[in-house]
Amino acid sequence: MEKSKYVLELAFLLGLVFMLSTMATSFAKDHGSNLQTYIVHVKRPESRATIESEELHKWYHSFLPQASNKDRMVFSYRNVASGFAVKLTPEEAKALLEKDEIVSARPERILSLHTTHTPSFLGLRQGLGLWNSSNLGQGVIIGVIDTGIYPFHPSFNDEGMPPPPPKWKGHCEFTGQRTCNNKLIGARNLLKSANEEPPFENFFHGTHTAAEAAGRFVENASVFGNAQGTAAGMAPNAHLAMYKVCNDKVGCTESAILAAMDIAIDDGVDVLSLSLGLGSLPFVEDPIAIGAFAAIQNGVFVSCSAANSGPGYSTLSNEAPWILTVGASTIDRKIAASAVLGNGAEYEGESLFQPEDFSPTLLPLVYAGANGILNSSFCVPGFLNNVDVKGKVVVCDIGGGFSSVVKGQVVLDAGGVAMILANSQSLGFSTFAVAHVLPAVEVSYVAGLAIKSYINSTTSPTATISFKGTVIGDALAPAVVSFSSRGPSQASPGILKPDIIGPGVNILAAWAVSVDNKIPPYNIVSGTSMSCPHLSGVAALLKSAHPDWSPAAIKSAIMTTANTVNLGGQPILDQRLLPADIFATGAGHVNPNKANDPGLVYDIQSDDYIPYLCGLGYEDREIGILVQRRVRCSGVKAIPEAQLNYPSFSIVMGSDTQYYTRTLTNVGPAEATYIVDLVVPLAMGMSVNPSQITFTEVNQKVTFSVEFIPQIKENRGNHTFAQGSLSWIRVSDKHTVRIPLSVIFK
Ligand SMILES: *[C@@H]1O[C@H](CO)[C@@H](O)[C@H](O)[C@H]1NC(C)=O
Ligand SMILES: *[C@@H]1O[C@H](CO)[C@@H](O)[C@H](O)[C@H]1NC(C)=O
Ligand SMILES: *[C@@H]1O[C@H](CO)[C@@H](O)[C@H](O)[C@H]1NC(C)=O
Ligand SMILES: *[C@@H]1O[C@H](CO)[C@@H](O)[C@H](O)[C@H]1NC(C)=O
Ligand SMILES: *[C@@H]1O[C@H](CO)[C@@H](O)[C@H](O)[C@H]1NC(C)=O
Repeated sequence: MEKSKYVLELAFLLGLVFMLSTMATSFAKDHGSNLQTYIVHVKRPESRATIESEELHKWYHSFLPQASNKDRMVFSYRNVASGFAVKLTPEEAKALLEKDEIVSARPERILSLHTTHTPSFLGLRQGLGLWNSSNLGQGVIIGVIDTGIYPFHPSFNDEGMPPPPPKWKGHCEFTGQRTCNNKLIGARNLLKSANEEPPFENFFHGTHTAAEAAGRFVENASVFGNAQGTAAGMAPNAHLAMYKVCNDKVGCTESAILAAMDIAIDDGVDVLSLSLGLGSLPFVEDPIAIGAFAAIQNGVFVSCSAANSGPGYSTLSNEAPWILTVGASTIDRKIAASAVLGNGAEYEGESLFQPEDFSPTLLPLVYAGANGILNSSFCVPGFLNNVDVKGKVVVCDIGGGFSSVVKGQVVLDAGGVAMILANSQSLGFSTFAVAHVLPAVEVSYVAGLAIKSYINSTTSPTATISFKGTVIGDALAPAVVSFSSRGPSQASPGILKPDIIGPGVNILAAWAVSVDNKIPPYNIVSGTSMSCPHLSGVAALLKSAHPDWSPAAIKSAIMTTANTVNLGGQPILDQRLLPADIFATGAGHVNPNKANDPGLVYDIQSDDYIPYLCGLGYEDREIGILVQRRVRCSGVKAIPEAQLNYPSFSIVMGSDTQYYTRTLTNVGPAEATYIVDLVVPLAMGMSVNPSQITFTEVNQKVTFSVEFIPQIKENRGNHTFAQGSLSWIRVSDKHTVRIPLSVIFK
């Protein structure tokens, strides 16, 4: 009985996660008034370039409507914007826009978290490689912008941790029994409506992401006894600061996200981790892109989730080139179960709930959608009433707007004994370990078809479910998961996105309530929300090992050393079990130990983005919002997107030859010779000049040129894009610095 109580609590949580992710494009609105929070950008006079906070605040206030009371101001920003968030009526906003100094004023939006399915692979080992050279991320501060945190969790214990570095200026809003410590060094709630409360987790997302980035070693972590082992984040010795910007009432507000980034920069964080987003937006309208630009201007690395809107193309969030955009892939651990049919066939899948007492006896098997009603096939509440499922194993299709836990409850309420969940075509072979309320297994789309055709083929179909527990060693891992958002980028098609993939499927980490009535609590969940903090943690390790590297150099190190093959040595696959394309994987799967020694980096300084932004066609006024000073594109030599010194190429190919340069910085041994190695994309010609480069000093920079030459269109066949790579291989030891190339045929 105890168990089912906790399971129901989890079902309730799953409902919340679903609710929030459907609020993606809604606008925040105060009920009972026509006041809305607006984000206002102001032209900062050149004379006020270095302005004191107090004075800035007064100046911002001078723009507020005369009659309004002081409480209308929500936040005044210092680092991420020349501007503020304010409650206005539409009429007041219109009046404000007529003032010369106002660049823009628009209602704030609500962003969504990137978790879909609730649910030592990376080679990090104590005393070896990157964990050794970074001392597990010692001295680095990771700011997590999320739903708050459960500070009591053992993943945030600070045994043996030194105090934060002197540059830390943040503070902690927790008081009393458990306040912050040397692990969790800061905690703020930026949601004004709930400003009185400390940033406790009430959404069960921030605790998990923070622990993935920098959780401490905790022995014997598991959920229902599965995935048992020592839990740890990527950077166990890094400090954490939580900035709460989402709750279950208002979602994640734009004004709070900007405020969090503004404050985190002043506080002195080194890495910012954001597992949320709003879909593709022009950079000047995207709060995360705006805040991240200020972050990189201050040397802060920003890692963001790519979003969970895959597997279709151009489904990304967080596309700005100054952000690391992280897709999600599987790990080699499955919480395995299989559907066993009366004809002896067995189909492998997953389930987190693994009852030990479920009898292997074959039971009658029924497809809930056999009546031809779509909602019945999805086991939608109320739609199994006329289906005879009593005492049977019931096949339900995934989809229809209800989580698999809810479907399980529907089957259970209708008298069903067990459930086989059949994936949709778009989910393909991606399965998720979910805490079901009855014996259940999720199987692939192909397996679902086979099970349904078996049901058709016989008058008395039977089945049972066999539970296999935690199985490690899936040679097909990492594989890109169905939900991971794909490129090409819409906001900037000349920059390849996502940048990288990392673990985001069935990830065990800290949770704010116990799922199985065991303290300490853990849960297994999936999403690009989970892969993003893995990369934030890796960035923290690299920052600790190489304090002088810029955010762009860290990104380059991560991308040029990524894996392109799975554990079985074959190309990384996607949810169809076909080779994943470049718009799913970006540079590939993160390899932290290799990223520690990239040899060469493609570096970018924050001002290098100005010619790029001019080339993208933004107006001077808009670029001013991002870089926070007056920019005149007429006085800047604008560059095409693909000319940015990015560690990848995304070429939109018409009929003309295109010519670009890239600049390498030597961060490896002083003396080294590299030769180029090309995998030329289909129906293209390429040349690289020079094709051999010799370095004689550390930090020496060398520029090379790349030509992309179109060939006759017939050679393209039916392909709309092609992919390849450009690698520099060190002659002495075959060390490889690889960047991916994508070509979109116009
Ligand atoms: C660990 O790091 C130290 C200091 O950077 C280095 O001297 C040592 O060789 C490293 N050990 C291993 C096993 O990598
Ligand atoms: C972990 O579990 C093992 C086996 O159940 C037990 O012997 C050990 O004491 C536990 N360790 C901790 C720290 O709880
Ligand atoms: C299917 O179920 C949903 C959710 O209950 C409901 O809104 C919808 O109207 C149903 N569709 C049909 C065709 O009955
Ligand atoms: C099973 O039979 C039904 C009804 O004849 C048909 O609509 C359906 O396509 C069949 N399914 C499979 C997987 O063969
Ligand atoms: C290209 O598409 C056409 C029309 O869909 C098809 O007939 C043809 O077989 C395709 N060619 C190749 C090489 O796939």
